Amino acid sequence: MSRHARTDSAHISPSAHYTGYVWYRHQLADPAFATTFGRWVHGLLAPITWGARVGFGLDIENFLLQRHLLIDARLTAAIEQGGVRQVVEIACGLSPRGQRFCQRYPELRYLEADLPAMAARKRLLLHSEGWLNGLHQVQSVNILAEQGAQSLTALFAGLDHNEPVLVITEGLVNYFERPVIEGFWTRLAQQLNQFPQGTYLTELYPDLREHPRYRQLRWGVGLVGRLTRGNYPLHYRNAEEIVAAFSNCGFRATQVLDPSEHGAALGLPPMSLPSLVRVIEARV
Ligand SMILES: C[S@@+](CC[C@H](N)C(=O)[O-])C[C@H]1O[C@@H](n2cnc3c(N)ncnc32)[C@H](O)[C@@H]1O
Repeated sequence: MSRHARTDSAHISPSAHYTGYVWYRHQLADPAFATTFGRWVHGLLAPITWGARVGFGLDIENFLLQRHLLIDARLTAAIEQGGVRQVVEIACGLSPRGQRFCQRYPELRYLEADLPAMAARKRLLLHSEGWLNGLHQVQSVNILAEQGAQSLTALFAGLDHNEPVLVITEGLVNYFERPVIEGFWTRLAQQLNQFPQGTYLTELYPDLREHPRYRQLRWGVGLVGRLTRGNYPLHYRNAEEIVAAFSNCGFRATQVLDPSEHGAALGLPPMSLPSLVRVIEARV
């Protein structure tokens, strides 16, 4: 791992407190997942999210819910219809998904992973609530690490390589420049190829120039970048570019799911604008 990679993405971690608080606010998480910092950031951003909603019809929390609930729905289908019994959630942050799914499916093996500091925090949280056990665990990982204790190889080493596996990342992809995230996807596809079936679920924000609120989107993206002291690049123009990119990284079948087409099934309110986010389901 290069020195640059080692220090490059810890600045993203505070954003997990904000999303964790949003999941809690929308009854998707136990109060244990809501932090004081998450509540504070949510309050700080409230005038902006209100302005975006009232002024431009852009409901930021609704966009977050679209991705979260669609990933949940695809994970549920993979477990109930696809025979998936082991899940790895990378960049888990303060997401309650692992706890919710382990409660719903007690036989499920669920490995949560994040940078060391966030992983330690999540482990403590789950442990103090009595939610960790032999099947539900937390491990450190750095998606930028090409070898060593925090690499994908180390993360996947303890899994059952005779069983299908499903990997999730949520709220991670757009924080990285395209060559960096595609490097991660290539290493991930190599890992997934060691299982009889490997599926990857993620969300990404494409560069939807034809979207009626594109200018506001660019402004919002700039704001996310400034708040997280980094950058928030939008990588692909459309579904074709996304499918081609995943194919180049070693995924043989990729679906690009638009939450606008699934909103009612997810229990979301009717959308007045096309969704800005896409959920990707890619298989090796
Ligand atoms: C926006 S948060 C999303 C958290 C959670 N998935 C959610 O949706 O609520 C981004 C997460 O990515 C993690 N992260 C940042 N850089 C990472 C890296 N190089 N490897 C693994 N995780 C990373 C952060 O620590 C943080 O928990």
